[in-house]
Amino acid sequence: MIIVILLFVKFVLDKKYLPGPWNLPVIGYLHKLDPAAPYLTLTKLAQKYGPIYTIKLGMVNVVVLADARILKKVLARDETLERSPLYLIDTVFEGRGLAHANIDLWKDQRKFVANFLRTVGATRVSPNRKTFDALIKKHVEEFVQVVKNQAFCKPLDPSELIIHLVSSTASSLFLGQPFSLNDKKVSDLARNIHVFIKLLMFGSPMNFLPFLRFLPPYKKQLALLKEAVHRVRDIQGKLIDECEKSTSKDSQSNLVKAFQLQISEGKSDNIYTLDQLHRLLFDLYVAFTETTINSLLWIFLYLAQHVEIQNKIRLELLWVLQGELLDFEDFENLHYTKATLAEIARIRTLLPLGVPHHASENIYLEGLTIPKGTMIMPLLWAIHMDPKVYKDPEEFRPERFIDSDGKFFKPESFLPFQSGKRMCVGEDVANMVTTIFIAGVLQNFKIEPVGSLPLDFTGTCGAALSPKSQKLVFTKI
Ligand code: HEM
Repeated sequence: MIIVILLFVKFVLDKKYLPGPWNLPVIGYLHKLDPAAPYLTLTKLAQKYGPIYTIKLGMVNVVVLADARILKKVLARDETLERSPLYLIDTVFEGRGLAHANIDLWKDQRKFVANFLRTVGATRVSPNRKTFDALIKKHVEEFVQVVKNQAFCKPLDPSELIIHLVSSTASSLFLGQPFSLNDKKVSDLARNIHVFIKLLMFGSPMNFLPFLRFLPPYKKQLALLKEAVHRVRDIQGKLIDECEKSTSKDSQSNLVKAFQLQISEGKSDNIYTLDQLHRLLFDLYVAFTETTINSLLWIFLYLAQHVEIQNKIRLELLWVLQGELLDFEDFENLHYTKATLAEIARIRTLLPLGVPHHASENIYLEGLTIPKGTMIMPLLWAIHMDPKVYKDPEEFRPERFIDSDGKFFKPESFLPFQSGKRMCVGEDVANMVTTIFIAGVLQNFKIEPVGSLPLDFTGTCGAALSPKSQKLVFTKI
């Protein structure tokens, strides 16, 4: 009787706050998640139980939020600033760096990074914006030159080149030096980051059932993950050393120097340590490259599929830029270009499971209770594919983001960077890189599929949703 009562309390009363599916003891709902696309399983549950439901993943209680309005309200609360404790994430990040830093460290480092990005021109409001604009343009010109030198109309898989150029932009920003083409460090870094990102997905069962790390195949996965992290840190260590030698002592023009300035000024020495510099650089470099590379590759695919949309963007560029390269100031007037980039960010949400937060207190909101200790999962995929907000969500239609005056507008249900105090610190960086890149490429090339070969739009879901490598034709215009 006691066991029956305890089970009743656990599995029935536990659910008193919110609706949700039945969970098995110990594993919860993990056995039913599609391992290749957990966001699709969770989206189906949102269709069944509504946009706010509860689920148990292994030992972790999760509240899934697929309603943009409620999600914004929840993420605006100070009680949701923390990250959820998850085994793999905690093993790798140990509460340091920035993206998974514990709250005290986060407060300081978030301010430091936001200041740094403003100083080097990598935000919309920075007075030095032209410096970062120029850095991106240099890399766009490199892309244009390399592609022009390819044999005429030869199909090309742009991923290697994009990985190189985005990594080089990140390296210039954070370490003060670009990578030259064919630099072996880039491919080595990119390969290891790729392994790391693939194994570190939030949906990984090891995050929810840590004992799995002792069993195959998880034991091997964990070893591979640790090896990849070790390798990335090792390469970054060498890059930091090179950076120290190559740039002047008081320069603040890259992250390493700006960080070391804080050390030399004796700022809270338990924060500004060499270990924290390594971890911060790791977080920023991975967040920058993995998202921007995949964004650009998705953009190429969708543009190749829709040549008529390329023509519209080209016309708009011609009208606004009069043949010049894009300045971020022009960005405000590129309504159709912005709408197209937003539509691609919607239809192939880069972080379909969002980046989870943690309820550090009970949260009461509009008659809902999110209990203390729960993981809050922003199900961005379901938000962006909700047919009530986006009619025929599977259809690619940039016009969704254009209002009746022909201007770009952002609906409330468009949250690729999430919201609140912890929302993506690199939103402006990502927008500047993708817009300047695409404008530069479309001013030079028409992008098409190879013959009548269909393009593959299925994504591979690691920490980010990435497109499959495929060839495209870039024709000089
Ligand atoms: C299209 C590109 C990008 C997308 C879709 C994206 C999306 C996101 C999302 C959803 C979050 C979680 C926010 C939250 O916890 O509420 C995040 C956090 C973060 N992003 Fe991005 N991001 C992108 C590009 C970048 C770039 C270029 C950088 C680097 C400059 C960057 C750096 C970060 C960092 C450091 C965090 C952690 C912020 C914190 O915990 O305070 N991201 N991003």
